[in-house]
Amino acid sequence: MPLYETVASKIVDLVEKGTFNPGERVPSIRRLSQQFKVSVNTVKTAYAFLEDRRVIQARPQSGYYVCPRLPEPPREPEITTPEFDPAIINSSDLVLRIMGDVMAPDLVQFGAAIPDPSLVPTRKLNRMLSSAVRRFPQESTAYAMPPGNIRLRTQIAKQMMKAGCTLHPDEIIITNGASEAVFLALRAICKPGDTLVIGAPLYFTFLQVIRDLGLKVLEIPMSPTHGINLEALESALDQHRVQACLIIPNFNNPLGFCMDDDRKKRLLGLMKRHDIPVIEDDINGDLSFSDTRPSVIKSWDNDGDVILCSSFSKTLAPGYRVGWIAPGRYFDSIRHQKLIINIATPTPTQLAVAEFLVSGGYEHHLRSIRKIYGKRIVQMADGVGRHFPSGTRVTRPEGGFALWVEMPENVDSITLYSLALKKGITVAPGKIFSTTDHFNHCIRLNAAFWSDKTRWAVKTLGKIACRLSNTR
Ligand SMILES: Cc1ncc(COP(=O)(O)O)c(C=O)c1O
Repeated sequence: MPLYETVASKIVDLVEKGTFNPGERVPSIRRLSQQFKVSVNTVKTAYAFLEDRRVIQARPQSGYYVCPRLPEPPREPEITTPEFDPAIINSSDLVLRIMGDVMAPDLVQFGAAIPDPSLVPTRKLNRMLSSAVRRFPQESTAYAMPPGNIRLRTQIAKQMMKAGCTLHPDEIIITNGASEAVFLALRAICKPGDTLVIGAPLYFTFLQVIRDLGLKVLEIPMSPTHGINLEALESALDQHRVQACLIIPNFNNPLGFCMDDDRKKRLLGLMKRHDIPVIEDDINGDLSFSDTRPSVIKSWDNDGDVILCSSFSKTLAPGYRVGWIAPGRYFDSIRHQKLIINIATPTPTQLAVAEFLVSGGYEHHLRSIRKIYGKRIVQMADGVGRHFPSGTRVTRPEGGFALWVEMPENVDSITLYSLALKKGITVAPGKIFSTTDHFNHCIRLNAAFWSDKTRWAVKTLGKIACRLSNTR
């Protein structure tokens, strides 16, 4: 083997072992020639060889960097593929099992879209929690009756200005996470037997909530880059009576896309023409990898037809259970529902989150976690590109931390889930994101974590997927 190839293969080895990650700089030509005791020309030739193979890339005046090996994005769905008939959702023990796995500390947690605990500002939140309960001793132990703590609602209203949305604090109700917000919205709009239009695939917990409320779903295909297919949606609405629409337009779970303003406005216009209220889940809106905070559909709604739901579960602490809802014209009925279901959201965590938003450096915190999650998404997508069977595709999320992986069609994600669990790894199999079988060969991975262990886990999943793709 020529000397330059030996040098190149050593670099490949270092990249594969994770010594140099995608986007990281490799040693300069001069430094490597000193370290490997070879000539500068040999390193130059080795680097040119690695550039040709897209292992590294030169950045002018900066050096050489490891290229991410990102597979193609998932295929655009065919509009003819979806079942344009409202479907009843089956009960899924699998969903309950997967949610149970979230509590198992010894498992690699790719199955649930939870933040990396090391990126939760625990110490600061603890400080804010104890200072808030000391400052407001009586308030902190009393019910924060709906709509909830006014200081928190004021801060949320200020935050939402970044998304182009002008909300008065009195238009907001604090909830137990975004889950309760969406549940309350569905309860306020729909009654058993009604049909809800959704983009497929959909965050699996919502499918179970929809099922428990006795609702049917009309699944509309979503583009992994642009979001819900508006033409398919229009044609479905022409054929079926629909009572509500549930949509996650910003850094969608599971597909990661962010719908642009034009599509958001067109979606709202379509819904208004059919007189269908929109439930908008914006839980990942603050997690953009760029400096731009995307808008919410609610910002174009002048009639109270959009119910906006969110929480601090992805950005601050999922265990605090602090979420909120801006119910529009459903305010009274949602406040009433909240009261009869659980009276109020716990007060101390509302006080702590309010304090964090006032003086905890929330913006600074967001900037730092967004940067980290942006890098980890690329690292995980790169790992999938290296280890999964050829033909595997992954999404290109612009925010959040969910990565959707579309494997060759003969890889059954439920089998992969079971085999991965034996190795101590959880994944969310595509099947549970839909009432159809369209996503049986897909999985959603949580890219919030990246370490030697998760690198090993991606490789292990890839090996299992390769075995499954060859065995049928
Ligand atoms: C899109 C989406 N909505 C809602 C939730 C639930 O949020 P919370 O923990 O605030 O109830 C999740 C959690 O993963 C989610 O991904």
